[in-house]
This record gives sequence, C-alpha cells and structure tokens, in this order.
Amino acid sequence: MRLLPLVAALPLASGQLNKWAQKAGLKYYGSATDTPGFRERQPYAAAYAKYDAIFANNDEFGQTTPTNGQKWMFIEPEPGVFNFTEGDVVADLAKQQGKLLRCHALVWHSQLAPWVENTTWTPEELKAVIKRHIFGVASYYKGRCYAWDVVNEALDEDGTYRKSVFYKVLGEEYLKLAFQWAAEADPTAKLYYNDYGIERPASNKTAGAKRLVKMILDAGVRVDGVGMQAHLHADNHPTMADHMNTMQQYAALGVSELAFTELDVRIKTPGVNDTKLAWQADSYAAVAEACVRVPQCVGITIWDFYDPFSWIPAVFPDNHAAGLWFEDFTKHPAYDAIINVFKKFDNRKEIGDKPKPADDCKEGKGKDAKGKARRRSWRY
Ligand code: G3I
Repeated sequence: MRLLPLVAALPLASGQLNKWAQKAGLKYYGSATDTPGFRERQPYAAAYAKYDAIFANNDEFGQTTPTNGQKWMFIEPEPGVFNFTEGDVVADLAKQQGKLLRCHALVWHSQLAPWVENTTWTPEELKAVIKRHIFGVASYYKGRCYAWDVVNEALDEDGTYRKSVFYKVLGEEYLKLAFQWAAEADPTAKLYYNDYGIERPASNKTAGAKRLVKMILDAGVRVDGVGMQAHLHADNHPTMADHMNTMQQYAALGVSELAFTELDVRIKTPGVNDTKLAWQADSYAAVAEACVRVPQCVGITIWDFYDPFSWIPAVFPDNHAAGLWFEDFTKHPAYDAIINVFKKFDNRKEIGDKPKPADDCKEGKGKDAKGKARRRSWRY
C-alpha cells in the first residue's frame, strides 16, 4: 500500500493564522506575494515548493496582495499599452486558491512608469493619463478585487502632500479624481487610501491622512477604507492602545473599513535573540488584538511571510527578519503570539458578514451608511 500520496494530500496541520483570525471575527489574515522569479532573493528558487505550500493553505492565509505586479511600471509601461501578465499571476493564484484579493496600487509616485514622470504635462493631459490608467486597470480587474489601494503614499513624512508629479501638476484634485474614477471603474471594490507611518495616534502623518481622507469625503467622493501599511520596528512599535486610538480616529471620519495592509516588523542586525524576537512578537500581537477589538478593522496582510522574500534587508541593510518564517522555514515566536491573541477571542464574535442580532449592537452604531448591519457588534 502506498501511503505517501494520501498523506501529502492532507491539509497542513500547521496552517492557522487565517483560521483563528476568522474565528475571532476578522475577514482574513493574508500575505502579499510576488511573481516567482521576482521574489526578493532569486537564488532562493529552491525554497519555492515549501513557500508555495504554506502560501496555498487557506487556513494560514485567506487573502493575498500582489507585491509588485499591478504597479504602473509593469501594467502600463508605455502610454496606453497595458500588460497584465505580472498582475495576473497573483490575481489568478488568488482565484484558484479561493483567497480574497487586495489589489495594489493604482496611483503611486514610486514604481511609476518612467514616461509618466519624464513628460511635462498640462493639468488636462495628466488628468486624462490618470483616468486612462485607472479605467484600464480597475475595469480589467473589475469584480475580482475585494479592495483597491487607489492612492498610495500621497503624504510626506511630515504629513504634508508629497510633491509627486501628480501633486505638482494637479494639486489635491488628483486625489478626488482618482477615487471618483476608481468608483466608476469598479463599483463593488472597497476603495482605500494606503500609506505607511500612519499607525500612531498623534503623529503629523496620521493627521495628514485624516485631512486627506476627510477632504475627499467632503467632496462627496467615496473612500471606503484607510490602509495602514504598518512597516514596524521591533524595538519601537505602537502599542495595542496606540493602534486602537488611531483606528478610532479614522473610523470617526466615516470610513467603513480599516486594514493593516503591509505588516512586517523589522529587527536590527546583527542576528536575532530572544529579546528582539519578544519585542517583535509583542508588535505583531498588538496589531492582531487591535484589529479584533476595532469593529471596522477587517483584516491583516503581512508583506510576505518568508524572511528571504522580504523587501527589508534590500532597502534597510541593518534590519532583517521582519516576517513570520525564518529562512529555514521555522516560525518566529510572533506566530504563536498572534494565534494566542486570536484564540482569546474565539467565538466571542460572529464570523464574516453575519452579525448576531442579539449582540450589544446599538441602534445606528452597528450599521453602515446604507443601513446594512456591520460585520461585528461587540463593544469594548
Ligand atoms: O523587476 C526586477 C526583476 O527583473 C528582477 O529579476 C528582480 C530580482 O532582483 O528584481 C526586480 O525588481 C524589483 C521589484 O521590486 C520587483 O520585484 C526591485 O529590485 C525591488 O527594489 C522592488 O522592490 C519592491 C518595492 O516595493 C519597490 O518600492 C518590493 O518588492 C515591494 O515589496 C515594495 O512594496 C512597497 C509597497 O508597494 C508600498 N509600500 C511600501 C512597500 C515596501 O517598499
């Protein structure tokens, strides 16, 4: 009798992040992933089979985001010439595996096609360029994206507008137009403003993100969510209370969703030790618990789970080990810390979009703008 294929066909017993996140009331725990061959350290092709098996397990990751493939430089490399090859790799994977897909990113100053930056535009010309891009991309993926990061990183470190080509030519009008066109191109996708460094309650950049989102909403344009990238530092990270306070400020603007969209927690070199890993575990756990406790927070995406495929060491060479799986595929202590947070909340909240009417949901408060009951109604 050949037992091996049968054993191999069984689901991995270790896959738990998404399973426990959903039991605690979140929509998903997910991981971004890149196109094979593009992954940060290509010599690691030998690790792909193990990596892919972990990624494929929906009990581990119920959602994904293409790390690079949907960015402007790949998807519209020449004016009006669209190439969906890279974006489709991860979008197709999500479909095959039944994962939610967050789409990333329509308007961003970085990884922009050089022709956008190298041309001197009139305002009307640049508006037409942005419109063509958003309609070209968001219409192509229409119905497949749970959410779109419509505008990414429009703020400078001090919370003022980043002086991108979009801002220099169009001022803040481009923000309103981008959300308006995304809403027209894919009416069912949740539309997010996404940025890094907007996780702390009293920072200038958090204030800037609030101003930006309020400005768009005040113009009568739909913004559904704020995406907190959360590229965090193990030795100086926001507490759970910080995350909750910040999210409550965004929710007060009237957005219906919040998400941690690119979570990783970098550790300073050299090496790792128990202290650094404990700080990192605290940071990952703080994000998990804050997301469970704030009703609008729908889920958490880590910006790749396997350390060799993380962007951190390439950009910050004195930092590393920001993910949840070490190079040898053993897990960081943060993994169990996250699971333990979710286990505390097991069965305390309804799962997915099915609120229990009996919960302590106050009239009006548990409903969104359309009067639809929100996902969760537990109050703290
Ligand atoms: O295209 C080449 C490919 O041909 C080559 O084989 C490969 C191997 O080195 O490199 C590829 O280019 C890389 C590109 O990602 C695509 O994989 C670049 O070197 C690399 O610098 C680039 O980095 C990406 C970075 O955005 C660029 O800013 C990271 O993978 C990606 O994780 C990162 O993601 C951003 C989010 O989109 C927005 N928020 C910040 C976050 C981190 O920077």
